[in-house]
This record gives sequence, structure tokens and C-alpha cells, in this order.
Amino acid sequence: MGNNPFLSVKDLRVEYTSDKKAIYAVNGVSFELEKGKSLGLVGETGAGKTTIAKSIMRILQCPPACIKSGEIYLDGEDLLQKSEKDMLEIRGKEIAMIFQDPMSALNPLMTVGEQIAEVVATHDKSLSKHEAEQKAIEMMEMVGIVGSRAVEFPFQFSGGMKQRIVIAIALACNPQLLLADEPTTALDVTIQAQVLRMIKDLQDKIETSMILITHDLGVVAETCDTVNIVYAGKILEKGTVEEVFDAPTHPYTRGLFDSLPKLNEKTDRLTPIPGMPLDPSIKFEGCPFAPRCERATDRCRQGEIHETHLGGTHYCSCVLCDQRGEA
Ligand SMILES: Nc1ncnc2c1ncn2[C@@H]1O[C@H](COP(=O)(O)OP(=O)(O)O)[C@@H](O)[C@H]1O
Ligand SMILES: [Mg+2]
Repeated sequence: MGNNPFLSVKDLRVEYTSDKKAIYAVNGVSFELEKGKSLGLVGETGAGKTTIAKSIMRILQCPPACIKSGEIYLDGEDLLQKSEKDMLEIRGKEIAMIFQDPMSALNPLMTVGEQIAEVVATHDKSLSKHEAEQKAIEMMEMVGIVGSRAVEFPFQFSGGMKQRIVIAIALACNPQLLLADEPTTALDVTIQAQVLRMIKDLQDKIETSMILITHDLGVVAETCDTVNIVYAGKILEKGTVEEVFDAPTHPYTRGLFDSLPKLNEKTDRLTPIPGMPLDPSIKFEGCPFAPRCERATDRCRQGEIHETHLGGTHYCSCVLCDQRGEA
């Protein structure tokens, strides 16, 4: 990794309080992202992916959420030390987030053109109303919707179109970092591929760095440069897409790959990972995947599991590779 990564998250820990109980959502997460690159955050529901993204965007509600520790450097500055006033500037201008459900992000009572223009105008106060509207039309065309539809309201668009509009809004200010939280999950399978392709093309064009949250390894292979495998609020394995896909090492990562349908096999027997995700209200020791891991030993259930460097930028937090002493 470079000396000065564009985004650097260090030892992030986030807890929620629910019914007076602590929920350990993010348990010491560290990773880096280079300028213009895209990183896939992969893991099952409840792994802590959205909480990581909301921490970077600084939109966690406190309470119930509490950032217990960590540093999040964007271009050398720690976002966790910024005032709310500074964050208002940074959000949208430097960081934008796309959520899973496009409807929650759109105002049903405003035309889509007005909504895009509003964001454009907020971030570039030198523009006249007319110029902001023109820019909005350009943004719509960039996401593949004819500009003449700027006068229509959200309900007049299909789900896939609405998500394109949300993406146009997110990209309207040329953010340096785009956080895309399962941006295509709510869409039709055929539309999913189109929208992803579009995000990827736009990301390349405006050189935005991106964190793409998904539970779909296929999407990561298509879209990302690097990948973090997240489980129970920890990164169990990370590296470039090539490194992790060519040699998945953590038993959890291997389990994820084994549960994918194979092209050249009959797909009536996929192998889902047996067992249940960890109860997030229990503070675990050792490897969080140990209760579901068929190779787990006593060592896996005790103490800190160190990250083993497997070569290049490939790291894995598993006792098995630690013992092999690979470097
Ligand atoms: N507002 C909240 N209050 C209490 N617990 C929460 C809240 N939001 C998320 N959690 C819990 O935090 C953990 C991580 O959630 P989340 O970040 O949404 O995971 P993911 O996006 O990977 O599905 C889960 O156990 C979830 O139930
Ligand atoms: Mg989520």
C-alpha cells in the first residue's frame, strides 16, 4: 500500500445500545483505499457493513450508536475529529452515499430535475438557477435518462430509473469518495447489471474512489479492485480481487466461494455455510467464525487472532495461516 492512502480506516469499533444491551457491530476494522480505486465490502447481513459506511459518512445516530474507537483519515484528515458543521460541507462535496432503497432518498413531491439541481446549487453557490437546472439535465443524461424527463416526479419512474436518479444526485458534486450500500439489491436482476456497469463507468470517468457494499462476490469480481471479507464486525481476509479470488484462504471466505453456484456443475446442491452467525450482543474472544468452522481448534477461541501477511496486499486473520508461518 502507498504511504498516504486516500482513505484509511484504523481500528474502528462501533457499538449500538439496544434494550440496554450492547451490540458489538464493528470490532476493530482497519483498511485502506487508494484514490480512484474501488473496494468491495462483502459479508452476510448483520456483518457490520452499513455501520462501517455510516461511520465514514458520520451519519450514525448517537444513541443508539457509539463509535468506541478508531480513526478515519480521508486525504490525511481524521473525519472522526470533524465538527458537524465541517461534515455538512464534506458530505455530498467529498463523500456521497447511495442507499439500498432509492425511494427513501427521493422526495416524492419534487420533480427529479429540481432535486438534482438543488444538490448542485447547494455545493456550487456561484451557479444561477438556470445553470443548476442545466447541470441537472446533464447529470440525468449521464445516467442514461433523457433530459426532458427532468420535469417528472419520482413515481413516474421505474425502480431501476429511480436508482439511476439517486446515483445522479450522489455524483452531482463529483464526490471524491462514493459509498454505495447494496445499490442494486432492490432492483430486478437484469437492471442490476446495467446499473452496476453504469456506476463503474461513472466512477472511472470522474475518478471517484468507491466502497461497494454487497453480499455478492460476482459483483465484486466485476466491479472492484480490492475486497474485504467482513464477518461479525471484523475483516477476516483482504487483498486485491485477484489475490482473494485466486487463493481464498480464510475458511469463511472459502465457505462463501463454495456456496456460489458453479457454472460447470449441476446446481441442485450448493453448500451453504453450516451454522448461524454470531450473536452480536456477545463479546467474542478469538475468531468470530470459530463456532461455525470445521477446522477450529482451541487456539481459535482464545486471545487476539493476528493478521497474517500472505504476500502482496493479501492478508488473512486465521490461526491456520499463522501457524503455517507464511509471510
Ligand atoms: N440502529 C441499530 N440499533 C441496534 N442495533 C443495530 C442498529 N443498526 C444495526 N444494528 C446491529 O448492528 C449489527 C451490524 O449491522 P449492519 O451494519 O446493518 O450490518 P450489515 O450492513 O452488514 O447487514 C447487526 O447486528 C445489527 O442488528
Ligand atoms: Mg447493510
